[in-house]
Amino acid sequence: MPYYRSVGHVPRKRHTQHRSPEGTLYFEELMGEEGFSSNSSLLYHVNIPSTVVDYRAWELPDQSLVPNHPLVPRHLSTHKLFDEGATGVDAVTGRRLLLGNGDVRLSYVVADAASPLYRNGIGDECLYVEDGEAVIETVFGDLEVGRGDYAIVPRATTFRIVPTGVARIYAIEASSHIGPPKRYLSKFGQLLEHAPYCERDLRMPTEPRVVESDEPVEVHIRHRGPGGVAGTVHTVQHHPFDVVGWDGGLYPYAFNISDFEPITGRLHQPPPVHQVVEGHNFVICNFVPRKVDYHPLSIPVPYYHSNVDSDEVMFYVEGDYEARKGSGIGPGSISLHPGGHPHGPQPGAYEKAIGVEEFDELAVMVDTFRPLDLGEAARATDDGVYAYSWSGGSDGSHA
Ligand SMILES: [Fe+2]
Repeated sequence: MPYYRSVGHVPRKRHTQHRSPEGTLYFEELMGEEGFSSNSSLLYHVNIPSTVVDYRAWELPDQSLVPNHPLVPRHLSTHKLFDEGATGVDAVTGRRLLLGNGDVRLSYVVADAASPLYRNGIGDECLYVEDGEAVIETVFGDLEVGRGDYAIVPRATTFRIVPTGVARIYAIEASSHIGPPKRYLSKFGQLLEHAPYCERDLRMPTEPRVVESDEPVEVHIRHRGPGGVAGTVHTVQHHPFDVVGWDGGLYPYAFNISDFEPITGRLHQPPPVHQVVEGHNFVICNFVPRKVDYHPLSIPVPYYHSNVDSDEVMFYVEGDYEARKGSGIGPGSISLHPGGHPHGPQPGAYEKAIGVEEFDELAVMVDTFRPLDLGEAARATDDGVYAYSWSGGSDGSHA
């Protein structure tokens, strides 16, 4: 995030000696984006942060992607991907890949185990907590997250995810940085009055997390590699959570979807009013409970639209999704509306929406500007008939 924070103990002047009460030097690390030309933070480590003593390949779960060909809209069911009950799955190694391209990968996990230490060397992660609670322990300190929270974790941050019970997480992994769109920000980076959220809605780590241990520990690293994504495990000499203080404008943060203030109007508002953040070649929007269009002749559900330049992925969280009535879509569903196919409300929804004053819906949308390919989790749960849901269905079941 673009504004300054300071947590724990930092020296009066940057790049100067910083010592423990016993007199030993702390080791300064700069985490800086875009070379040294964008946001950065300075972290003060007890130990040198580079002490690799061993390494090995991390065999990631199936990362294969196949084109959406023949081109059709699809309905996926994330809730069919994981067994009920104790599974020992964690929110890093257990992610199942739904959709992806060179810019972003969308995966889903139901986790009840603590993840290993982890670092994404490809891009920022936006983790949407569909349900449950977790502590995201990071080198900057902890983020406590729960139902409806987005957690945005900058690339190269060392962290792990510790569920409290069972946590359902929709993971949006960018190949770039993720942040608010420029139009929400002043020229100096403050969120403007017309933005649907502001700094008060954001939560950041408030205290350092220091683990005192001399045991070597493994860090799982996701990075660019053959086929796009690869994994490596580094064993480092000291626990990476040894930062006594940090300051700067780069750190993980969280905010809850219920703090997103919807923008409404007399006539249908286009998706950009629902935008939360963006990465390179994609945007993340959300649809939250709100009053809807109040022109006397308005039609509150969307008009039919062609995503001329994007694939549109809707993750349905809860509520009553007016435009998708009759399509089989419910909580945990994902719809993929690819570029090249005009889409809109299912039959009947257009007329039924007239006179409705409020929508009780909660959904997270990712629009990508390059086509999305299908991961193994999409191939495993594609209902195979969603494409017919506007026409009555080839078997008549999706009228
Ligand atoms: Fe759409």
